[in-house]
Amino acid sequence: MSGKIGGKALNWAELGFEYVRTDVRFAARWRDGEWDAGALLDSEIMPLHEGSPALHYAQQCFEGLKAQCARDGRVLLFRPNLNSERMNEAAGRLLMPQVPKALFLRGVETAVRENRQWIPPFGSGASLYVRPLLIGVGENLGLRPAKEFEFRVFVSPVGPYYKQAGMAPISLAVSGMDRAAPQGTGRFKIGANYAGGLLATQEAQREGANEALYLDAAENRYIDEAGSANILVALRDGSLATPRSAAVLPSVNRRSLMQLAADRLGMKTAERPIDLRAEFGEFTEMAACGTAAVLSPISRIWFDDAWHEVNPRQNGEAIGPVMRQLYDLLVGIQQGEIAEQYGWVHEVVL
Ligand code: PLP
Ligand code: COI
Repeated sequence: MSGKIGGKALNWAELGFEYVRTDVRFAARWRDGEWDAGALLDSEIMPLHEGSPALHYAQQCFEGLKAQCARDGRVLLFRPNLNSERMNEAAGRLLMPQVPKALFLRGVETAVRENRQWIPPFGSGASLYVRPLLIGVGENLGLRPAKEFEFRVFVSPVGPYYKQAGMAPISLAVSGMDRAAPQGTGRFKIGANYAGGLLATQEAQREGANEALYLDAAENRYIDEAGSANILVALRDGSLATPRSAAVLPSVNRRSLMQLAADRLGMKTAERPIDLRAEFGEFTEMAACGTAAVLSPISRIWFDDAWHEVNPRQNGEAIGPVMRQLYDLLVGIQQGEIAEQYGWVHEVVL
């Protein structure tokens, strides 16, 4: 696939978080104990056996990362090694084969490279979302793992995940439903966790929130995470906290933001249980973070039958200085505008 970056004449600034069909996708098959070389496919339609364990028993996992175009035209991924590791943790949990890191990166890079015309230009506010997935396929009926697996990577240009663009604040509603049990599958990026969250998300949106916020399933007390993002909280004592929980997805962006807060903003950071009701009055800022969500400030939360404004003393200024600085640092690094010493940015050579 030739053509130049951003060659498709899309209205990039108008994109939401919707599927846009791009030219090709990468797919590899695992059978008889090994992966084939993989290939590029034109069709977005997957022919699947009706008995496939992915369809019945949710034997599947997925990942999400973004490719962004830098000012100088380089195409950058952000810490794709962590997505590879996380996919393999999920694969191990669901008795699926490991996707070797080299295959994962080749699939991601090939899908990005061969769809270069769909990569939104620098400064457009959009990016190319990359969705790797691993699914159990083939004839089956009883509860047992598949004998064949497909690893696929497709890409789609996207804009902001929440309707509000950029750093506009969002709201969350605490769900009466649990997302994940303490010893369950919450820390793995597997579709089963998200199917259970569809109804919770719908209910939260009926309440007028952007999405659901889950508390811990054991005590309904400590913050776990939002439906599609982890949570960060800036506190009155100047520290930055994020929930410690065995049930939340280990977010790539959260890990990065916590490190940036410590290294670049000199903040005290802590991963610890955060008791929503007991500590809410100490929150000066709150945000949801993730690949799709980036860093979205949270202005209010619905719980105990009422809306609770985060830090109402902030003169109506919903976006505080901590999240603003963290957003600028994270996005600046991801787009190649700010130098970093960690080796987080991974160039896709076109
Ligand atoms: N939590 C959930 C449930 C998610 O779906 C996501 C999105 O990937 C995240 C957190 C954020 O993770 P990451 O920063 O790796 O995208
Ligand atoms: C991501 O942020 O990459 C996700 O997978 C979240 C998803 C619900 C869109």
